[in-house]
Amino acid sequence: MNIRKDINATYGYTHAMHIRLRPVIISDLPILFEQQADPESSAMAAFPSRTKEEFDTHWAKIMADETVILRVIEVDGQVAGHLVSWEMREGREVGYWLGREFWGKGIATESLNQFLGVVKTRPLFAHVAKHNTASRRVLEKCGFTVIGEDKYTNRIKQKVEEFVLRLNEND
Ligand SMILES: CC(C)(COP(=O)(O)OP(=O)(O)OC[C@H]1O[C@@H](n2cnc3c(N)ncnc32)[C@H](O)[C@@H]1OP(=O)(O)O)[C@@H](O)C(=O)NCCC(=O)NCCS
Repeated sequence: MNIRKDINATYGYTHAMHIRLRPVIISDLPILFEQQADPESSAMAAFPSRTKEEFDTHWAKIMADETVILRVIEVDGQVAGHLVSWEMREGREVGYWLGREFWGKGIATESLNQFLGVVKTRPLFAHVAKHNTASRRVLEKCGFTVIGEDKYTNRIKQKVEEFVLRLNEND
């Protein structure tokens, strides 16, 4: 299925946005820290923001882990967010996070599409909070389908209900 569209045409931009993925470098981390610290983003993802210390520990760990695949999303040379893929017992997962000023422009969809060319494992899974309609939509635009539901209690003791989505070999 080819779902890629010209996002500049779709969103009516007067200049062509240049969206590319690249490896994460240390100087990106303060920007990624601020993006995950945003309360609206955190509520949307049902993922509590990390303190600076928690963030530094977590990122040192994932950047050193060869099974974790990480990319920065660069839009016209700016760090718009990141994508991540990691192994779980049930299979390989993907996740992503954009700075709020980059929302609503098709950037997550285009970035995830590019990332699916980097992370080639299938099936590939994603978990999304039930209220996170935008993220569910991004996944569905990229070919994922809802296969079930899950729930867990996050670090700040909120009960989170999720949809589980899967991208199959031939999707
Ligand atoms: C979720 C997130 C990645 C979306 O990024 P984005 O670049 O705005 O996404 P896109 O523009 O590519 O696509 C969003 C889609 O959701 C739709 N959408 C957005 N808000 C919506 C809502 N409240 N209800 C229904 N659809 C909604 C948009 O219209 C768009 O669909 P369309 O192209 O069919 O019109 C971004 O908001 C984010 O990083 N949020 C914080 C972190 C997070 O939630 N990460 C995901 C964890 S699973």
